[in-house]
Amino acid sequence: MGKNRQEQKKKAYEFFIKHQRPEEFAKDPLIYYTPERVKEYAESKSLMRIQEGITKRCVELVHAAPPALFLDIGMGCGFASVFLNLKGFRTIGLDINRFFLSYYSLPELNSIQADMREFRLRPRSIDFIISISAVQWILAESDEQKRRQYLKDFSQFCAEILKPQGKLIFQFYPKSDEAMMELGHEFKEIGAFEGNFVIDNPENPKKRRIFLLLDRL
Ligand SMILES: C[S@@+](CC[C@H](N)C(=O)[O-])C[C@H]1O[C@@H](n2cnc3c(N)ncnc32)[C@H](O)[C@@H]1O
Repeated sequence: MGKNRQEQKKKAYEFFIKHQRPEEFAKDPLIYYTPERVKEYAESKSLMRIQEGITKRCVELVHAAPPALFLDIGMGCGFASVFLNLKGFRTIGLDINRFFLSYYSLPELNSIQADMREFRLRPRSIDFIISISAVQWILAESDEQKRRQYLKDFSQFCAEILKPQGKLIFQFYPKSDEAMMELGHEFKEIGAFEGNFVIDNPENPKKRRIFLLLDRL
């Protein structure tokens, strides 16, 4: 391997880790997101601004126009869904944690308590699937066999509910290049999608944003 190639490869593995990742030490979102943590999250103006900014970028990347229907996976207290609603989109939000779902309890968000690893909706009913800062919880499963099964089921669920030509966009925080590729690989394996990763600010680990952007074939 030439020096340049080695440099490039090294760069690809530099992930910025400011705090210990909750999905890595807690493993279970229901254990980590206690009512106190949910309150702290939901009332943080800075988190709201950051998540809105990411949602805005996602809408731009999928070229969505109102009143398209978004499914917001791992919606939390609804920062992305509220932003989408205000822009005239329709939303269904899904989260495993009832404390998050009931925090603001806005009926227009159509929230459902469910686990993204084993959920079903009406086939071909959704225009866009969005997920902001949530998919890393699946990637944190340390048992490889289980993780692969979760990703396989999750990708099939997404393929099934999207309308033909629908799109999916996930912004997430992989802990490594391998974790990021694993998600892309499992979605590619089922042959229902085409697309790639979009990486904003790739050279700056602090500002880097990673998206998986896929079209339903
Ligand atoms: C960091 S929060 C992000 C919330 C929201 N998307 C936002 O941008 O503010 C991660 C969310 O993923 C949810 N989550 C984690 N694992 C999940 C699963 N298996 N099924 C559904 N939701 C899950 C958590 O409950 C939490 O609300």
